[in-house]
Amino acid sequence: MTALVTTRSELATSRRELSAPVVLVPTMGALHDGHRALLRSARAAAGPGGSVVVSIFVNPLQFGEAADLERYPRPLAHDMAVCEAEGTDLVFAPPVEEIYPEQQRVTVDPGSMGTVLEGEFRPGHFAGVLTVVLKLFSLIRPDIAVFGEKDAQQLALVRAMVDDFAVPVSIRSVATVRDHDGLALSSRNRFLSQDERRVALAIPRALLAGAEAAGHGPKAVLGAAQRVLDDAGLKPEYLALVDPGNFAFVRDDYLDSALLVIAARVGQTRLIDNVRVERHAADN
Ligand code: PAF
Repeated sequence: MTALVTTRSELATSRRELSAPVVLVPTMGALHDGHRALLRSARAAAGPGGSVVVSIFVNPLQFGEAADLERYPRPLAHDMAVCEAEGTDLVFAPPVEEIYPEQQRVTVDPGSMGTVLEGEFRPGHFAGVLTVVLKLFSLIRPDIAVFGEKDAQQLALVRAMVDDFAVPVSIRSVATVRDHDGLALSSRNRFLSQDERRVALAIPRALLAGAEAAGHGPKAVLGAAQRVLDDAGLKPEYLALVDPGNFAFVRDDYLDSALLVIAARVGQTRLIDNVRVERHAADN
């Protein structure tokens, strides 16, 4: 049976009863199969004796546009059913006042890695993400926390924060889950019309084309991906090849692997995705 707590004091009481290792999956709810993969990985990491905690909190600090925050789905009954089915022990779903009782005075500065790509197009986003993640870590004190690889820059920044601040938590990542047509699962996909979804499919196709050109170097990778986007008439906010550890741009060459990342708006819906580009795998 999955327990639901909504306040810090209820959380503190329930946390005392959880057996280690405690594995946290931080989410904003509207759970889909991509989240289910995170929950399963968390359950496996916790083992039969450990505990899985899911946080569900639509964090206002990481949203730029008020309209985007307002329309973000919040289907708590559905989310509880998913957590229950995946063997979650505890859900922490606080209201905004519980996380931000006052105006947040101190926030986490994501540094230079947080100013490129997502950071450039969504100013303040990563400060909001890292601030809430650090707060969730302080309140829940997990031994392990699980994040999805679809939000690759977020993952790299969370790892950097944990490292730089010596936060006692181990970070695990889970591969992106895709729909049957290749589109990466996202809570935002529900906003796409049928026509928009057809256009959006250029994103995974572009990533695949880029990955297939891996043996020919960065320019070929970016060129192959760009051609697919051009053919679909999709102008990305960014398309870049980066080092997955620090998000530095890969311009001339890469030895082992790089990450091809993309963000594009399809109608009103902003989508991001990425794929590993393995140079040597493609050479073989
Ligand atoms: O990836 C998300 O869903 C959010 O950015 C997170 C990590 C739950 C922080 O609000």
